Amino acid sequence: MPSSEDKKLRHVGFIMDGNGRWAKRRNKPRTFGHKKGADAIIGVLEECFDSGVEVVSLYAFSTENWSRPKEEIDAIFDLLSTFLKKYSKKLFEKKSRLLISGDLTPISKTLRERCEKLMADTAHFTEHVLNIALNYGSRNEIVRAVNLLKDKQGEISEEDISNNLYTKGLPDIDLVVRTSGEKRLSNFFLWQCAYAEFYFTDVLWPDFNKEETKKALDWFYGRKRRFGGIENA
Ligand code: FPP
Repeated sequence: MPSSEDKKLRHVGFIMDGNGRWAKRRNKPRTFGHKKGADAIIGVLEECFDSGVEVVSLYAFSTENWSRPKEEIDAIFDLLSTFLKKYSKKLFEKKSRLLISGDLTPISKTLRERCEKLMADTAHFTEHVLNIALNYGSRNEIVRAVNLLKDKQGEISEEDISNNLYTKGLPDIDLVVRTSGEKRLSNFFLWQCAYAEFYFTDVLWPDFNKEETKKALDWFYGRKRRFGGIENA
């Protein structure tokens, strides 16, 4: 349990929303918005990691996103693949670990193997963690944890659940940022967000740059975090 005046920002989660609307406003296909959205990630990561954030979680593809047109799904996976190819150099430079949270079984063998190899090759890095939620749903993650614990003797503790989530060993999420004006959590790391602050902005994800990231981080530091306690108690 964090202390009542703990204001350190260790883990930020981003719900990257608004790519489709960004493209529509420009009379472009939705996939163009995702491309610009993928480009925006680089600056966001740089700003977070340079300012001392340890873990960044990105919502890239939810278990509900399979209902989108196949062309759009393929485009998102292609962008992710290209991103990982490009960003792998940075992961090594910055001694950052890649974690993919989610069930990789239904994705293409090429992308799955790329993800698995990069996760294994960076597993020993401790400076930063880039956690990408891919084919991820939080309720599903919690049910999976409970099933993994089904043969455990005695009562199941909170620690048991935490240790059987994809994010095992990572700090809880301190700040969730959702772009595009929507104010929902959409099944994003529900367990890990128990004490998170929520920052909502109308900015669409492709326009969410370093400056917008800094604004969100500064907003967090301006908040009083009490974790259910009483100020100055
Ligand atoms: C939500 O916007 C965005 C997604 C479901 C996909 C996010 C994917 C990327 C940014 C690119 C690939 C990921 C990585 C990590 C490189 P939306 O399509 O729901 O937008 P809308 O609400 O305006 O339609």
